[in-house]
Amino acid sequence: MRDVRSALCIALDGTDLEWIEATARTVAPHAGWLKVGLEGFTAHGPDLVRRVGQLGSRIFLDLKLHDIPATVSRAAANCAVSGADMFNVHAGGGAAMLRAAVEGARSAATSQPPKVLAVTVLTSLDHQALSELGLPIAPDELVVRWARMAQSCGLDGVVASAKEAPLVRRACGPEFLIVTPGIRPAWAAGDDQKRIVTPAAAIADGADVLVIGRPVTRADDPAAAAQRILQEMSEGASAS
Ligand code: C5P
Repeated sequence: MRDVRSALCIALDGTDLEWIEATARTVAPHAGWLKVGLEGFTAHGPDLVRRVGQLGSRIFLDLKLHDIPATVSRAAANCAVSGADMFNVHAGGGAAMLRAAVEGARSAATSQPPKVLAVTVLTSLDHQALSELGLPIAPDELVVRWARMAQSCGLDGVVASAKEAPLVRRACGPEFLIVTPGIRPAWAAGDDQKRIVTPAAAIADGADVLVIGRPVTRADDPAAAAQRILQEMSEGASAS
């Protein structure tokens, strides 16, 4: 039986430090991963990674780095020093930048280096938006192309929509991590997410880690909501 707890990542999206820490304490027993994103990081800096990291779950630092290779290399080193277990960069930064991220993380890690993920095509970009950017290619084709590039540059995996997980899995094999946001249980509001997928379907489609925020963190009972999602993930694992 697959350990679905290690496949659940709760996004701690908020600015208020007390709220972030209280929510993290409540959900940590139910989630293998906690995600610190731009909102919390720009308010509280690397110290937030250290504080939340003390709760026992692994930390996904979601800063989506995108800059010249030298800058990304040093920022990646800082991510490793902060104690993050995983962080991400934009695949669109190009192969040299992706390699620099991996090298930066490895150079600074004192023990196990953090996993490095590439954000493929943002789920907010459709075919038309890609054409406007001068990329006349279907989003799912670009996801696969960038996932392959990230893998060849030594990255551990990608952030992608669960809808693209089967394509990425076929292209990149069983060891490549697929981390998927845009997850919504049938009983939760969609919020601003578009192309949403249920927890069971995401697991059945081959996602390794599901990133879920508001359905848990804004629920009346976040621990119960996380438990309900774990149950659904188990059902998806049994069906796959
Ligand atoms: O609250 P919700 O479940 O929508 O949170 C989703 C999290 O995943 C947010 O932290 C958001 O930044 C992140 N994310 C996303 N869609 C992407 C990439 C990341 O929602 N395509």
